[in-house]
Order: sequence, then C-alpha cells, then structure tokens
Amino acid sequence: MGFLYDMAVNFMTEQRGIFVTVFLMPVSVVWDIMFALRSWLIMALYSAPELHKQRVQEASAQVRDATTNAPPGTKLCTARGGWLSISLSLRPYKKVATNISINMYDILELNETESYVHVEPMVNMGQLSHYLIPRGYTIPVLPEMDDLTVGGLFMGTGIEASSHKFGLFDEFVIEAEVILASGEVVTCSKTQNRDLFDALPWSYGTLGFLVSCKIKVIPCKPYIRIEYRGCHNKKQGLELFTKASCMDIPPDFVECIAYSSETMVVMTSDMVDEDAVEKDKINKIGRWYKPWYFKHVEKMLEISSPEKPHVEYIPVRQFFHRWTSAIFWELEQIIPFGNHPLYRALLGWFTPSVALLKLTQTEAIRKTYEEQHIVQDMLVPISKTSEALDVFDTHYQIYPLWICPYRQYDYSDATTEHRHFLRKPNKPNKEGYEMYVDLGAYGVPRPCLEKKPFDVIKSSRAVEKYVTEANGSQMLYATSYLSRDEFREMFNHAHYDKMKQKVDPNDFFPQVYEKVCKGAMNFWQAKAGDKKLD
Ligand SMILES: Cc1cc2nc3c(=O)[nH]c(=O)nc-3n(C[C@H](O)[C@H](O)[C@H](O)COP(=O)(O)OP(=O)(O)OC[C@H]3O[C@@H](n4cnc5c(N)ncnc54)[C@H](O)[C@@H]3O)c2cc1C
Ligand SMILES: *[C@@H]1O[C@H](CO)[C@@H](O)[C@H](O)[C@H]1NC(C)=O
Ligand SMILES: *[C@@H]1O[C@H](CO)[C@@H](O)[C@H](O)[C@H]1NC(C)=O
Ligand SMILES: *[C@@H]1O[C@H](CO)[C@@H](O)[C@H](O)[C@H]1NC(C)=O
Repeated sequence: MGFLYDMAVNFMTEQRGIFVTVFLMPVSVVWDIMFALRSWLIMALYSAPELHKQRVQEASAQVRDATTNAPPGTKLCTARGGWLSISLSLRPYKKVATNISINMYDILELNETESYVHVEPMVNMGQLSHYLIPRGYTIPVLPEMDDLTVGGLFMGTGIEASSHKFGLFDEFVIEAEVILASGEVVTCSKTQNRDLFDALPWSYGTLGFLVSCKIKVIPCKPYIRIEYRGCHNKKQGLELFTKASCMDIPPDFVECIAYSSETMVVMTSDMVDEDAVEKDKINKIGRWYKPWYFKHVEKMLEISSPEKPHVEYIPVRQFFHRWTSAIFWELEQIIPFGNHPLYRALLGWFTPSVALLKLTQTEAIRKTYEEQHIVQDMLVPISKTSEALDVFDTHYQIYPLWICPYRQYDYSDATTEHRHFLRKPNKPNKEGYEMYVDLGAYGVPRPCLEKKPFDVIKSSRAVEKYVTEANGSQMLYATSYLSRDEFREMFNHAHYDKMKQKVDPNDFFPQVYEKVCKGAMNFWQAKAGDKKLD
C-alpha cells in the first residue's frame, strides 16, 4: 500500500498537468455542483435577514463560550479551512487556535435608495457580480477572482483596475458589524464607533469577527470598451500608464501587463451602454474556448501601439472576471498545455479552483511552491514604478507582471491622526491621496526555470527592504519574510495598537504579524508543542 501511495504522490507531483486535467476535472465538476447545490440550499433554507440576527447570536455565543474562563494563551480564528482561502500564506494558527464558525453566505439586502448592498462575510465576488450586474449595479472595487470573499477583502485587502478612481476595497465599505472577543456585537461606521471602524481594514481578523457589512454600489453598464496599447519601450509605456492613471477624469479602469523589462501593454477601459457598442468588435473573452486572457493581451504587443490602440468590447461580467480562468497566468505552470486550441475546444470550460489545487498539492509541490515560486503584490508610489520594476527584475526575474494603480489616502485631518494600517502617503495631492501602484509578481523566477540556484528568502527580503524604504507595503495574503521590527516599520501600528488594547485587552486574537508572517512560526509552534504545523 505504501508503495502505491508513493507512486500516486510521485505522479501527482511530476505530472501535475495531467493529474489536474484527468483526476481533478471530475472532482472539480462534482465540487462545483456541490457548491452550487449548497448555495441553493443556503439561499432556500437560510436566506432571510431575520435569520442573519439569529446566526450572529449563535456566533456570538460561540465566542463567549470560547473566551469565558478560557485557559491562558487561548486564541481565536474562523473555522474556515486554510485551504479554502485564496491566500497562500501558511496558516499555522488554524491548527492551534479555537475555531469559530462564521458560516454566513447571504446577500441580505440591496438598498437602491441608499445605494448599498448589505452582505455577510462569506459572500464571494462571483456571487456578488452575478447578483448585482443584472440589477444594474456593481461595487466600485470588484476584485477579479470569483472566489475572493467580502470578509477576506475587507479585513485583509482588495484591489482592482478601478482602484485609481476609488482606492482599495475598504474605501467603499460604509458600515460593519463585528463580534468582539467578549462576544459583544458592535456596529461601526464613520459616524458610529468610528475608532473601531477605522482600524478594521488590514486587521486580518485580529480585532473581531466580521459578520456583515454594507458596501456602496454604483451603476453598472453592460459592456466595457477597452483600448490596448502595446509598448516596446519601458519609459514610454510607463509614461502612458501614469498619465492614464492620474488624469483629472480618468478611464474607469487602468491596468498594465509587463511582458519583459521593456515591453508592456497598457489597458484603459470604460463602461458603455449597449447602443455604444460596435458589434464587430465584441470579444466574449469569458467563453470556454477563448485563449487565456493574458495570452490574448500579449498579442496586443504586435497589433497595437501607443498611437494606434486596439479596441474591443467585452461583456461587463466577463471583464470583471478576466483573470479568473487562468488564475492571472498561474495556470500555465500547472497545465502547460492548457492554452492549446484543442485543449480549449474540448476542456476549456474546466478551471480548477484555487481551493482544490491547494487541497490536492503534495508536500513536494508545496515545498516547490515555497522555494521556487513567487506570489507577491507590492504597493509603491507610482513615481517609483520604474525603479521598483528594476528591483523586481533583479531579484525575481518573473514576467508577466501585473501593474495596477490605486489611490493611497492620507486619512488625517484637523481632529484625527492617520489611522490606516498603511502608512500615510508622503505627497498627498489636494484631494488627499497619492497615486500608488500594485506590482504583482506571480510565477517561477527565471533562475528556477534555468535550474540555477535561487534563494527565495534572500530575494524576497531584498524586495521587502526596498518596498519599506520606498514608503510602500506588501500585501499580506502572500508569504512575508519580515521580522517583527521590520513589520512594524512597514505598517502604521499607531491606531491599531490602541484599538487592539481597547477591544481585545486579553489578546484572544493574535497580532497581525503573528497571523500572517513567517517569522511568527515559533510563536505558534510553542503553543502547538509536538503537533506539526507546516
Ligand atoms: C491566486 C490569487 C489571486 C488573487 N487575486 C486577487 C485579486 O484579483 N485582487 C485582489 O485584491 N486580491 C487578490 N488576491 C489576494 C487577496 O486579496 C487576498 O487573498 C484576500 O485577503 C482575500 O482572500 P480570501 O477571500 O480568500 O480571504 P481569507 O484569506 O480567508 O482572509 C483574509 C484575512 O481576512 C480575515 N477574515 C476573513 N473573513 C473574516 C471574518 N468574517 N471576520 C474576521 N476576519 C476575517 C482572515 O482571518 C484572514 O486573515 C489574490 C490572491 C491569490 C493567491
Ligand atoms: C474546529 O475545532 C473543532 C474542535 O476542536 C475540531 O474538531 C474541528 O476540526 C476544527 N475545525 C477546523 C476547520 O479546523
Ligand atoms: C434603505 O435604507 C433606508 C435607511 O436605512 C431605509 O429607511 C429604507 O427602508 C431602505 N429601503 C429599502 C428598500 O430597504
Ligand atoms: C518616505 O516618507 C518619508 C516621510 O513620510 C520621507 O521623508 C521620505 O523621503 C520618503 N521616502 C522616499 C523614498 O520617498
């Protein structure tokens, strides 16, 4: 049996593409059907705002039970399995902390008078876009991957190609309902319990459990008119990109994909009505037989230029989830033959979910992912983009790269200090923000492809150091190699520390650092004793 097991594990590791296609596909289909059934059951059986109150009471009681007379050192976390989350960072705390079920998947209310949607934390982006778009709405920042959840995006962070207009995901959350470690249920907003509200983004569930929130909605049109501009010169490309991001009346969406140190495609798009659509330029990129979107964009290097953009119209929901099917470009590593026309024609409808991929990875794959694979998003001022790309090129050598602009706000005013976990921008404009960019590196560094030595810790730390010095930040869903002191330097703890002390004086939740950084492994191992954590 042991021999068969080893053979199976070897196969899963060596022939990942075949394994994923042949074995994961039926599983994936069953999985999707199960989840659809589950959503349907949840909608049919539990979907009612009254029941929301009851669910909150139950969760609150669980928290109270867990923290009343608890042994010293007790920590809390959600019961959602670490593999279900899109995030890649290790979740050692899941095996040590007391878990609280926050099984809340419901869209509670769309209020058109007040322009908000009231949702529970496990609602994901696919579910939300399916619900809102037919009703003529979207949320301002709708991150691309279907499986990303409201809870993870608000308590963690989220970004989209509309963030140069709207900021990060938390910018348009207008009210939140949270269960504190005491079991108390608190509603907070800019006008009610504001100190707690201001501390929630980037708190990674270390202040309390989110049980619902209200997010602003804006009108949504059925098509996206997109202009692609292929650039073969870094300077020219970045100038174009920066100009588009920082215009007084900017396009609705701006993003850029770098395909090498000099080549990139700048993409600018606007929402348009049906009657503005040029029918012969419609491209339904979400159809199963269509090429992976990043491959399609790469072609723009040949057929478009800064002066002569290539224009097409994409149905809005397909546009929102344009990076879902190839997981940006990660799927190429897993199913190298997946973009072949024949594969697409026959099997293109099959997209393994990140959760399933995580669940079925062998120890060898996990190790390879950790040591020879980079998934990082780094946030730096837009003025530093060129320099930061050089740093990425030196230490990661990965292409394509995702370049997405966003507004970093200075939240301080006459009466209140800057409370956000991200540091105050150095040069805010008169509207109170500085334009920043998110540089996303997902893939295998060139040295690894060429079977040359690559030291993931050294490279990652070099990039982290650069980002701190550039007044930037690291997204915390990925692996962070920062030490505790470095982490406190990169992130603004001034307000967070006060709130942590106020709402969680007995430390039933860990610190953000302990939750997300590799350097905190010892902290959890000490609690776990002999239990193996990684
Ligand atoms: C392949 C991949 C693609 C990605 N694509 C994008 C993208 O397109 N755009 C983007 O913005 N980001 C993207 N991300 C990163 C993403 O922003 C983070 O993973 C984000 O935190 C959301 O993930 P999640 O919904 O799985 O939340 P989780 O990882 O489950 O949660 C994130 C944090 O929030 C906390 N949390 C979640 N729910 C609650 C709750 N109810 N109460 C209290 N705390 C809670 C968790 O404890 C955790 O610390 C991507 C990541 C990967 C790996
Ligand atoms: C939650 O905790 C219970 C009791 O300790 C345990 O049986 C269960 O497996 C845990 N669930 C998860 C998702 O870790
Ligand atoms: C919308 O919200 C307002 C204010 O909370 C409330 O008075 C109104 O009843 C809501 N409308 C609907 C349709 O739910
Ligand atoms: C970072 O910000 C500080 C103060 O906010 C400023 O003095 C410093 O020059 C900035 N660093 C860079 C590289 O812009």
